[in-house]
Amino acid sequence: MKRLAEGKIHERINAIPNAWYPAYIIRGDERNMMIDAGVNLLGPQYLASIKETLGDPGLLHYLFLTHSHYDHLGSAYYLWRHISGLKIGAHERLEGLLQKPSVLEMMNRLSSNHVDLLGQNTAGEDLTMHPFEIRFHLKQGDKFSLGGLTCRVYETPGHTRDSLAFYFPEIKALFPGESCGVIQGEEGDIIQVEFLSSYQDYIDSLNLMISLEPAIICLGHGLVLTSDDAKDFLRCSLEETFCYREMIETYLNEAHGDVEKATQNMAHQEYDIKGGIFQERNAYLTNLAAQVSHIAGMQKQRARSQNECS
Ligand SMILES: [Fe+2]
Repeated sequence: MKRLAEGKIHERINAIPNAWYPAYIIRGDERNMMIDAGVNLLGPQYLASIKETLGDPGLLHYLFLTHSHYDHLGSAYYLWRHISGLKIGAHERLEGLLQKPSVLEMMNRLSSNHVDLLGQNTAGEDLTMHPFEIRFHLKQGDKFSLGGLTCRVYETPGHTRDSLAFYFPEIKALFPGESCGVIQGEEGDIIQVEFLSSYQDYIDSLNLMISLEPAIICLGHGLVLTSDDAKDFLRCSLEETFCYREMIETYLNEAHGDVEKATQNMAHQEYDIKGGIFQERNAYLTNLAAQVSHIAGMQKQRARSQNECS
């Protein structure tokens, strides 16, 4: 089953407040955790939803972040400032990125593009992102008990170098961020392949997540998958990644290896003509350029190895 990432997902899981930028609250017997913190402009809404879900925001003990993109950590600073005792966990690399003024400036600039959400900051609060304390540098094999539920940490690079997935074996629930792509299309029938830092890492991470056999997959954007859809999705995403690489290679070959031209041709055909991708065009183009460039680099590497062997 596919459903919007909103409201009660499971007796232990709630998705707040917006299906396109969901944060997931997982309720243990003793402690509660939130996964991801969306865009900064939604900070007050996340806080209100946390209060609604837990009664008291002070009962949120942990905020764990899946990766270093502005639309997954945007409200972390706001929540850290408003919830005393909130302990934030993320990959060590994310902390280093937050210390760079240029990275924060870029994140704040990208966030401000979400003008459709601006009207929701009715109190006119300053929602600018700033560095926040990261209490836990999360890594493969870490475990956190919430009481009756255990959060297991998996490193799942490929989308970004600092991507993490969180898995709760007691309820077989996986929170992959964007490590396994995003579902797009009016019918929810397009898997948008999301490798940005490394194609091979992305494949390896998908295989790792397949081995977990999750029964619930709470995606980083849009949807939650259960039963057969959860079972099929990760394998479909893997297949789609292979096809996507072949597609990029075809565009590169047609453009005689010209990355810029291949990117523009592919964006025109796949985004403008086929349609169905909700992502804003500039963001789509930026990510696509990174993917085409990465695959072009792999092609060059392969050609070099073949020349050395012959
Ligand atoms: Fe992302």
